[in-house]
Amino acid sequence: MGVAGQSLMVGWSIQAQSYEGAAIDFTAADLAAARDDRDSAVEAQLGWPLETISYLRAAFTKRLSRVSNWSSTSPASVLARSIYKRGLNSQAVHGSYPILFGEERPDLSFIQESNLVVIDEGVAGTLTQYPWYQRAITITPTEQNKSLATIADLYAQIKHQGAVRIVVIGGGILCDMVGFLAYLTQKKAVYVPTTLLAMVDASIGGKTAVNFAPFGKNQIGAFHFPEEVRIGAGWLTTLPEREFRAGIAESLKHAFLAGDEELARRICEVQQPEDMAPLLYQIVSIKAEIVERDPNERGERATLNLGHTLGHALEGLAAISGGDIRHGEAVGVGLCYMLILARTLNILDKDEFSKMSELVTRSRLKPSPRQLACWLNTKVDDLTAIWPELYNLILQDKKMPNQDGALKSPWVLLQGMGRVYQPAGRGYITMVEEGDAKTAWHAFLASLTTT
Ligand SMILES: NC(=O)c1ccc[n+]([C@@H]2O[C@H](COP(=O)([O-])OP(=O)(O)OC[C@H]3O[C@@H](n4cnc5c(N)ncnc54)[C@H](O)[C@@H]3O)[C@@H](O)[C@H]2O)c1
Repeated sequence: MGVAGQSLMVGWSIQAQSYEGAAIDFTAADLAAARDDRDSAVEAQLGWPLETISYLRAAFTKRLSRVSNWSSTSPASVLARSIYKRGLNSQAVHGSYPILFGEERPDLSFIQESNLVVIDEGVAGTLTQYPWYQRAITITPTEQNKSLATIADLYAQIKHQGAVRIVVIGGGILCDMVGFLAYLTQKKAVYVPTTLLAMVDASIGGKTAVNFAPFGKNQIGAFHFPEEVRIGAGWLTTLPEREFRAGIAESLKHAFLAGDEELARRICEVQQPEDMAPLLYQIVSIKAEIVERDPNERGERATLNLGHTLGHALEGLAAISGGDIRHGEAVGVGLCYMLILARTLNILDKDEFSKMSELVTRSRLKPSPRQLACWLNTKVDDLTAIWPELYNLILQDKKMPNQDGALKSPWVLLQGMGRVYQPAGRGYITMVEEGDAKTAWHAFLASLTTT
């Protein structure tokens, strides 16, 4: 079965988002404590008022709700508050965009002279024949440079260009980052995803973001839906195995969420990039449908974070320890761990657990202890001992005090294929006590030795 010529139209509609609650004050001391000497250079490049980044940092430090009302009316505070709210505004907005599928690399001659083109270093060498290549901006994607500073550099380069459209050709890091730039400059964005992960996940759904240390991954960003996404399975032939496997993790996550066992089995059986082409439409449709129902993550879209609570913490730990783990690899480990945690809590029944565990193992998402230790730049013998640090990073994302004051951590957990556990009153998120999360970590590590 081929994919050439298939397309999918994705609609989105976001209700007006007002600010909520009593107005929060930031004191001069809050802002001074939040200031970093490097901020003013970034603010100047972006044309942001001085102190905008201090307001953002102070808001993260106070762990404010994204829609919190702030008392200050200074230009820096007003801008920071709207960025903190992920660009959602007080009017309802809606739109739609097509996702086009092809088996080959898409023909990029649709790119016009007036478009701004940003390309991933990983594919730049294959694009030299195009007339726009010479004026394209090439970026080396890393989680370290997925930052406001990189956005500011890019912004400074393009601010005098009158282009109305940015075309991004690259992996998930580039899609996220340049998508945010498109939001800030109010330009249209066309995504040409070149990694499996970007095809099935990052280019779909209009979430754009950069990392904001030390507050974690993707903390600063905005909803900015693309004008078009052009998926071409042909890009996958040059993708290193490691990057390919990272994309398999997010693909399997989608099949789990949809409860599509047949699709999950076919994903497990993929040996080489060509095998993936016939599955892309189905995998992308799963995410597109979830996003269509809940574009700005008021409910169901949070289920796409399956495997991400631990995944983000592993990425954070690797960044601190000098390790190197791909986003998709961390999500793969997060999926394996989630199954064990859901089983520990008796949420997931035994048969469903066995079935899904077999699927993650066959998809090669479960690392050996040595592989996991290498990703985290630690020793195999220390994998048990890293738990407190890992748990701190989990809590850094979002934490919720228990009645007795103990902190619980938020998880998306499966009851079975296609069934996300919904505890009463908390949507799709289950709050878990540290003891259970730690028991599951030990059980997860024990399960690795048998693979
Ligand atoms: N916005 C969202 O909804 C969303 C969803 C999932 C993930 N993400 C983000 O996506 C990012 C991960 O994306 P990724 O896995 O694509 O990683 P990536 O962007 O780092 O790309 C991986 C590597 O592959 C290289 N590359 C790209 N295309 C290639 C090709 N065709 N051939 C050879 N090499 C190629 C790149 O240069 C890079 O070295 C993370 O930052 C994650 O947070 C976003």
